Amino acid sequence: MKTFIAPSILACDMQKLGEEMRRAERAGADVLHADVMDGVYVPNISFGFDFIKAVDKAVGIPIDVHMMTVCPQKYIRELKDAGADNVTVHHDTASRDEIIKAVWAIKNEGMKASVALRPKFPAEDIEPFLPYIDMALVMTVEPGFGGQKFMSDMLPKIAKIRSMAPELDIQVDGGINEETAALCAKAGANVFVVGTASFRAPDMKSAITKIRRAAEKYEVE
Ligand code: DX5
Ligand code: ZN
Repeated sequence: MKTFIAPSILACDMQKLGEEMRRAERAGADVLHADVMDGVYVPNISFGFDFIKAVDKAVGIPIDVHMMTVCPQKYIRELKDAGADNVTVHHDTASRDEIIKAVWAIKNEGMKASVALRPKFPAEDIEPFLPYIDMALVMTVEPGFGGQKFMSDMLPKIAKIRSMAPELDIQVDGGINEETAALCAKAGANVFVVGTASFRAPDMKSAITKIRRAAEKYEVE
């Protein structure tokens, strides 16, 4: 499984959005991770479609949208129009059937579709979605804020999902740095969202390179 590094826009200097996005691209980001929060599903509000559109216009790399909102299925056309390449929805934001429908709707728009699990949910919760999704997101912090501490008790969940789905992209999000990326990679993750440890590092390029190297040690064919 190839390693992907996805800097989280939430941690950038939003006063100079375009410049920051190009800085991430130059530093070796594979994709940009955009956290959409509605103040209902999580206790924070971030940004919406026009902001994502501005990000997309600034760079050539794919945009990975992490929907931390209720009713994510309502916004799929808007996300496509904004330039999203992947859309991740949380599995507890709607019924199982509605989430599967949302996944199909995302794929019908030509985007990749992923399902996320908050820390309190077990690996087994991903199972009904496995036939349909491109990626599973294992939250390694409570969603809502950047800069939180990595929850190492999520590692067995990553390993479990990897054993259930040997070919699936597995993304981790929250508190990822060189050290925690290695732990997650060892457990089976291959897509790393990095906010604080990328944009706020003294040298973003060297930070991304180190995180990538740490993860690639555990890359499996
Ligand atoms: C948290 C977001 C993350 C966040 C990660 O709810 O989903 O993407 O930006 O930030 P760090 O890497 O600082 O934990
Ligand atoms: Zn996120």
